[in-house]
Amino acid sequence: MKDKIVVFDSGLGGLNIYKTLTNKYPNENYIYFADELYLPYGTKSVEFLKQRIRSIIEYFKDAKAIVIACNTASSIYRLLDLNYPNVYEIIDVTSQYAYNTSRNKRIGVIATDLTIELGMYQDALNKLNAKVFPLKYSELVDFIEGKDQYSEEEYLRIVNESLKDKFSFFKDSDIDSLICGCTHFGYLIDEYKKHLTVSNYVISDDAVCEFLENKIKFANNLNPSREIYTSGDAFEFSSKIKKIGFSETVSSLVV
Ligand code: DGL
Repeated sequence: MKDKIVVFDSGLGGLNIYKTLTNKYPNENYIYFADELYLPYGTKSVEFLKQRIRSIIEYFKDAKAIVIACNTASSIYRLLDLNYPNVYEIIDVTSQYAYNTSRNKRIGVIATDLTIELGMYQDALNKLNAKVFPLKYSELVDFIEGKDQYSEEEYLRIVNESLKDKFSFFKDSDIDSLICGCTHFGYLIDEYKKHLTVSNYVISDDAVCEFLENKIKFANNLNPSREIYTSGDAFEFSSKIKKIGFSETVSSLVV
């Protein structure tokens, strides 16, 4: 475990960060853990998630690094009194990245209901003196994880119907940047563009990579390993990730 970087999320979302890390630092050993048994996180109670996130972090505590590739879990982590120096959450780095790349400092945030309720993006951006427009959008996680149930055409139709309605929230906001404050949301940026005139879409991937570069020394293994685990059904998760371009085998893990 000591030589592995663990990246985790409730499901598919954190794979975006996993992919960026594995592409940028391919000679490192990685574990991806999808807590699909307890998906979605964004509509669960704080008390339940505190226990869950604590268990996951304690399970992987001897890893070289644990990247919480989930904004909901990152918010919960900040409420826990855990002092592991190898654990990295993603809210502050993503907020700073959005602030740095926004021209007018008017920034929208779409995230799970719980992430918005816990308000950590709002706090981080307010501290930077940005004007924040937060939108709860847990429904979008269900669409993304449930994509398999629809034909591509039907999927895009219902997603766009929902976006049209929800994004009317940003109508008079004059935002120039939108933070995908849920790692699942990076998959739909092309669709957001149909409803918003925002020039800057912010995902956590590059911000997190840049940040980690200054925190850890990436390894240079000749035979680096890739392991993907889920607490849910390994066959189901394996077929979900194949459809979005991952060929790794998936194993079950009880955490
Ligand atoms: N991907 C997670 C996030 O970034 C949450 C999805 C969920 O609700 O489980 O917040």
